Amino acid sequence: MKKKILLIIIVIVFILIIGFGVYFLLNRERKGETQVNDNIIEKLEKENKIANFNFETKSVKLNSGYVMPLNGLGTYSLTGDTCYNAVTSALKSGVRLIDTAYMYGNEEEIGRAIRDSKIPRSEIFVITKIYPTQFDNPKEAIELALKKLDIDYIDMMLLHHPGNFDVKAYKEMEKYVESGKIHSLGLSNWYTKELKEFLPQVNIIPALVQNEIHPYYQENDVIPFIQKLGIVVQGWYPFGGRGYTSELLNNETIVKIANNHNVSSAQIILRWNLQKGVVVIPGSSNPEHIKENTDIYNFELTDDEMQKINELDRNEKHDWY
Ligand SMILES: NC(=O)c1ccc[n+]([C@@H]2O[C@H](COP(=O)([O-])OP(=O)(O)OC[C@H]3O[C@@H](n4cnc5c(N)ncnc54)[C@H](OP(=O)(O)O)[C@@H]3O)[C@@H](O)[C@H]2O)c1
Repeated sequence: MKKKILLIIIVIVFILIIGFGVYFLLNRERKGETQVNDNIIEKLEKENKIANFNFETKSVKLNSGYVMPLNGLGTYSLTGDTCYNAVTSALKSGVRLIDTAYMYGNEEEIGRAIRDSKIPRSEIFVITKIYPTQFDNPKEAIELALKKLDIDYIDMMLLHHPGNFDVKAYKEMEKYVESGKIHSLGLSNWYTKELKEFLPQVNIIPALVQNEIHPYYQENDVIPFIQKLGIVVQGWYPFGGRGYTSELLNNETIVKIANNHNVSSAQIILRWNLQKGVVVIPGSSNPEHIKENTDIYNFELTDDEMQKINELDRNEKHDWY
């Protein structure tokens, strides 16, 4: 009887030791995955390495060491031939930055337009994004983007929105940076609070944050915060997004400033972004607009004009994210 009890105790102790061992190992792995570096924000703010826009070369050097153009083509809602033709037209007009995403369903057309252009791959900068629904299997998402684009490597990959497993997805992208298949990493729709939570958990500081920015939604607190961390800011919906462009492009203040410089309202808005240190990716399928949107380096807004546009801010977001 005594022997039986002793045996049961030994078995229980044995199970407990194994159980604790497994728990300890799993926990260590999990901690490793989300290793925190609480001081990173403070450290980056102190370093204050704001990236300089070079208006001569029309480019900016990212914290990843790669150089990115200051103006590009956005491809949201462009699909099929419309997308292929828009990208082809943009490349012919000298645009060398193209923004796409898994969610836009046009990575294949963009890759094809780039390959067909015969422009050296190293001269074109392609940004794509993986969507939160892909974050739990990031390797598959990244491989899919590489396969669809079929342009050897991706210049920059963003997480499209914060979401479950975003740290896990980002860490997988970090592995692709090591292997050279992705050059730079970034985030989209991350604001101050989200960045403060996210940055301490990753190893590579994002090179870029892409957020909604236009005269009616200016993010005047968020932009300097991000820039101070040495991260470049890129704005989406520069003209307010489809359905809002007419109101914004016909805004009285903007039209007046456009007349001062003999340019269009669209060019004024893009130039205002550049002078705030914000990279622009206007969307268009119209070759004339695409060309016009590149012609933003031959005039400069005065401080007073910049101020007048700053005063148009209404904190009016045109999309939910
Ligand atoms: N990260 C994100 O969550 C997110 C969200 C939304 C968008 N984005 C990115 O940001 C890019 C820009 O946003 P968007 O394309 O949706 O909106 P947008 O750039 O604010 O506006 C696009 C609209 O402006 C018109 N337009 C373009 N150039 C013009 C010009 N010179 N004069 C008059 N109208 C002009 C276009 O019409 P035409 O075709 O006739 O020129 C189109 O209807 C997207 O394409 C996408 O790459 C990212």
